[in-house]
Amino acid sequence: MGQARGFDPAKSGRDTVFALRRSDGIRVYRNHCPHQGVPLEYRKDRFLSGDGQRILCYAHGAHFDADSGLCTDGPCRGMSLASLPLVIEDGWLYLALAPDSPLLR
Ligand code: FES
Repeated sequence: MGQARGFDPAKSGRDTVFALRRSDGIRVYRNHCPHQGVPLEYRKDRFLSGDGQRILCYAHGAHFDADSGLCTDGPCRGMSLASLPLVIEDGWLYLALAPDSPLLR
C-alpha cells in the first residue's frame, strides 16, 4: 500500500507537488490534474484510493496509475500527471528543478 504527502516547495501557500512512497521507491508528481488544472486532493495528503494503489482526482473522479501517473479512468483518460525529477541524498528528498520552475506552481 502506498503513502502520499503533499509539499509546498515554492512556498505558495498550497501543496503544489506530492510525493508517493511505493514498494520500489518514491515518485513525485505535480499536484495538477491534466483535466482542468486543479489540485487533486480533497484534503491534506488525500491523493490515493482507499487501497493505496491509485492516485485520484477528487474534482471529477479521475484515476491515475501510481507508478506512471497515466490517467486510466475519468475525463482525462490517456493523459498523465507531470512526474518530477528527484534526488535522494542522505535520506533527504530533493526536487531536481529550479526554484522558479513553472512545474512548482
Ligand atoms: S479536474 Fe481532475 S478529473 Fe476533472
